[in-house]
Amino acid sequence: MSSVKLIIDKKEIKLPLIKGTESESGIDIRMLRKETGCITFDPGYANTGSCTSKITFIDGEKGILRYRGYPIEDLAGKVKFTDVAYLLIYGHMPNKDIKATFSKRLRQNANIHEDMKRFFDGFPLNAHPMATLSSMATALSAFTPETAHDDNEAIDDTIIKILAKVKTIAAYSYRKYHGLPFIYPNPELNYVENFLHMMFSDSQENFYADPVLIEALDLLLILHADHEQNCSTSTVRMAGSSLSNVFGAISSGIAALWGPLHGGANQAVLEMLKKIREDDADYKKYIQLAKDKNSSFRLMGFGHRVYKNYDPRAKIIKVIADKVLTKLKINDPLLDIAKELEEAALNDDYFISRKLYPNVDFYSGIIYRAMGIPANMFTVMFALGRLPGWLAHWKEMINSEDFRISRPRQIYIGAQKTHLKNK
Ligand code: CMC
Repeated sequence: MSSVKLIIDKKEIKLPLIKGTESESGIDIRMLRKETGCITFDPGYANTGSCTSKITFIDGEKGILRYRGYPIEDLAGKVKFTDVAYLLIYGHMPNKDIKATFSKRLRQNANIHEDMKRFFDGFPLNAHPMATLSSMATALSAFTPETAHDDNEAIDDTIIKILAKVKTIAAYSYRKYHGLPFIYPNPELNYVENFLHMMFSDSQENFYADPVLIEALDLLLILHADHEQNCSTSTVRMAGSSLSNVFGAISSGIAALWGPLHGGANQAVLEMLKKIREDDADYKKYIQLAKDKNSSFRLMGFGHRVYKNYDPRAKIIKVIADKVLTKLKINDPLLDIAKELEEAALNDDYFISRKLYPNVDFYSGIIYRAMGIPANMFTVMFALGRLPGWLAHWKEMINSEDFRISRPRQIYIGAQKTHLKNK
């Protein structure tokens, strides 16, 4: 079948079928409005393909996630986050020389302009780090020449700057929140080590990062690096489709990620686990609450728009959480509560019938907590991981043959034509 037939009020049109490399199919409706006057209606876009993409493949029914064809299980813990960033953005694994150059450019570009440091002073101490991150990502554009969208070299340069500097801003937003002096990036350190250094070193002593933590953080960033057309990535594409400045598009993505239904869920999970603990660890009560249609409470870190099976990222993170805590000899009661909660939910008809499983946010916070990263930084960590994905999608979009400004339609249901009454 290469097309589908659509009949509207006796008018019949043929719509082509478009096939993906993994046998997914979509109905190409580009001529729909022109030929029938109708548009499609799909709130939340659950049935809408907004683009073709070569970056990430997900099979939500089978629990499969691949970056550029590589299963996530083959990448996490086996290669570095910066290799995966390169893979996502440029489409292939870097060889030894490319790795070295890419890493060097990231290290060389890690500093932000000295004047930008003063911007942090304008934020109150208790500003949420995501607010700081999003504002400062846009502010970066003021210190970087405008990128022509057809200049590949300038685009690459901007991509490097964003990857390198957003990490520094992320660490500074933590320092600002805690009233601590900023620690400059160290050009000798790689991406993850540098981030931990800027977060936790002080002027007297460099932070010693346990290799277990470095490995775990690298792995977490890899697992967050892309997830095809999720809310924040679609936001980056949407904002970028007006040919807006890429820093602004990334900042929009950060803002979209912040919400508790998306990346903000990792902070919400930890807050939920703490609340359960304070409530005599009575997790069953929270299962009941999540099922109660009169309550707005949801089990945070559970459910996913695409995965109707165990999120493959959560599977890996659960194992790593155990490993990290054991190696660091940390006994975190929140991990036990999380496991009990998961076990109860996975045996409950409500969750079974709706195919609700733990997602990437369910166990990640336990690991961040073991690293000494506070809960309000969790979504910032997600943003750092997702940054290469956003950039890969932005780059793919502006180079796409189908490129057009994103501009959905609507079905108007407001008042019909009306006039002002005379006095
Ligand atoms: N707890 C209780 N019920 C739930 C949950 C949950 N976490 N998630 C979905 N449901 C129920 C929902 O009430 C609905 O029930 P019914 O059919 O009786 O009305 C059904 O499951 C389908 O839910 P939905 O809201 O239509 O699903 P969605 O695809 O629109 O939303 C979701 C997906 C991730 C927003 C949602 O599952 C959710 O709110 N989960 C909690 C927040 C969370 O963990 N978000 C992180 C997502 S993964 C990382 C990321 O993308 O950032």
